[in-house]
Amino acid sequence: ALTEEDLKQLPEEGIDPENSGKYQTLIEDLQGNILKGHGRDYSVHLFLQWKPEHINEAKQWLKTFTQTYVKSAKKQSDEAVRYRQEGLSGGVFGNVFLSRKGYEVLGFEPFQIPFDQPFRMGMKSNDIRSSLADPEVKDWEKGYQNDLHALILVADDDIIDLLQMVNQISQELRLVAEIVHREDGFILRNKAGQIIEHFGFVDGVSQPLFIKRDIVKAQTNDGNFSQWDSRAGLDIILVKDPNGQTEDSYGSYLVYRKLEQNVKGFREDQRNLAQRLNIKDDLAGALVVGRFYDGTPVTKSDIPTYAVTPTNNFNYDEDIAATKCPFHAHIRKTNPRGDTGRVESSPGFDESLTIEKNHRIARRAISYGENDPTKEPETGSGLLFLCFQADIENQFNFIQTRWANADRFVKVGVGLDPLIGQGQSAIDPEWPTKWGESETQEYHFKLWVTMKGGEYFFAPSISSLTNLA
Ligand code: HEM
Repeated sequence: ALTEEDLKQLPEEGIDPENSGKYQTLIEDLQGNILKGHGRDYSVHLFLQWKPEHINEAKQWLKTFTQTYVKSAKKQSDEAVRYRQEGLSGGVFGNVFLSRKGYEVLGFEPFQIPFDQPFRMGMKSNDIRSSLADPEVKDWEKGYQNDLHALILVADDDIIDLLQMVNQISQELRLVAEIVHREDGFILRNKAGQIIEHFGFVDGVSQPLFIKRDIVKAQTNDGNFSQWDSRAGLDIILVKDPNGQTEDSYGSYLVYRKLEQNVKGFREDQRNLAQRLNIKDDLAGALVVGRFYDGTPVTKSDIPTYAVTPTNNFNYDEDIAATKCPFHAHIRKTNPRGDTGRVESSPGFDESLTIEKNHRIARRAISYGENDPTKEPETGSGLLFLCFQADIENQFNFIQTRWANADRFVKVGVGLDPLIGQGQSAIDPEWPTKWGESETQEYHFKLWVTMKGGEYFFAPSISSLTNLA
C-alpha cells in the first residue's frame, strides 16, 4: 500500500499513467476528472434522491452505471493517448458523487461514511452557510433546496449523443431515484479558442498539476517552474475511501456551487472603475481578476500580450506593494503565491508558502446558460463551480472564508475579492491609477456573482461503487 510519504512526494515529473509503478492500483481505482479535467465540451449534471423502498435496485444501478461509464484516472489517460495518436474519441465520460445524506440513505454505517467535517454537515447547514456568507436556503434555486443524495455527471463532445444518453439514463433511473435537479453545462470559448467564463476572461489556467504530461508541458513551454511551481502532492486532493476494495482505493471531496454571473452589471462596473481610475477598460478588468481577458497576469504587464497559452509561471515578488496587481484581485486573493509569508513574520517565507500551497484546489468548473456572453445576460448564466480537494475546511472553505470574504486578507485595508467575496465589509478597496506606481483611488466594486445552491460530495473509488450490489 502507498504510504503517506508516497502521497505527499510525487516523482519529479509527477505520475506517468503509462508507467505508473507503485501508483498503478491507485489510478486504476480512482475516478477520472479528479487528477485532470475530463476536457469534454458538454456536461449534464443529474442530482438524485434515492427512493428508500428501492435501495437494492439503486445499488445495482450504481454498479452498472459505474462499470459502463465511469472511467478511472488510468483509463482517462489511455483514451487521451489514443485520441492523440489515432484521433479516436473516448466517448461518454461518467462520474458518480455521493453526499453524506446519499450514503446514509444507501444504508452505510457512520464509520463507512467519509469523515470530512463540512461534508458531514452539508452545505445547507446553518454553520456552514453563515461561515461562507451564503444566501439563505429559501433563496437558493428550487432544485437545490431538496436534499441531494447523489450527483451523476455525464459528459461528451457530441451534444446529441450526450442528450440521448441522458434520456436513457433518466429512464433507467425512474425506479430507483428521482431526478430532483439538472444542470446542463458547456465550455465557453473566445475567438482565439481559449476557454473563458461569462465575464469574458480566460479560465482554468492555474491548476495544481499531478500528471507527467501536464508537468512536462508546463516545464517546457512555461519556464520550468522558475517563478511558480504548479506541482502538487496527492495528499492535497485524495483521501482513502473507507469502502474501497483495494489497498490503494482513494476518493476526493467535491465542492459543487452554482454561481450566477450578472454580465451586464459586471461590465458597467468595470467601465465605471476604468473611468474613476482614468485607465482603459481592459486594464480595469485585469485589476479585478488579476489577469487580462486573454489571461496575461496584470502583475507582469499593463497590456494584454495575447499568448496562446497564458503563463502561469509568475509570482508577486516584484509587486510586493501591489501597485501592479492589487492584493484584492481575484487570483491574488485565491492564490497569493507567497504573499502570506511576506506579510506574516513567522513561521518564515518557505514554510508559509508550503502552508499556503496546501490550500490549493483542483478547479473543474464549466459554464451554463447563455452561450453568447456578448449578449450580457443579467440572470440565468454563470459558472457551475466544481473543485476537488482532500480537506474541504482547509481548502475550498478556507479560500472562500479566510481569503476571498476577508477584508483583512492579506492585510488590513485590502478589502474583499471583487469577483467572489461574500459578506459585509466597510472597506472600499484601493486601486492603482497608474500601473506600477503608488497613487490609488478608492472604488467599491459590487459583487456580480450570486450563489444559487450547491452541496458537498465525495467521489468514491470505483471498487467501492462496483462492490455495492
Ligand atoms: C482563477 C474566474 C469563482 C478560485 C480564476 C481566473 C478567472 C476566474 C478568470 C483566472 C484564470 C486562471 O488562473 O485559471 C472566476 C469566476 C468565478 C470564480 C468568474 C465565479 C463565477 C471562484 C471560486 C473560487 C475560485 C468560488 C474558490 C473559492 C480560483 C483560483 C484560481 C482562480 C484558486 C487560480 C488562481 C491562481 O492560481 O493564480 N478564476 N472564478 N474562483 N479562481 Fe476563480
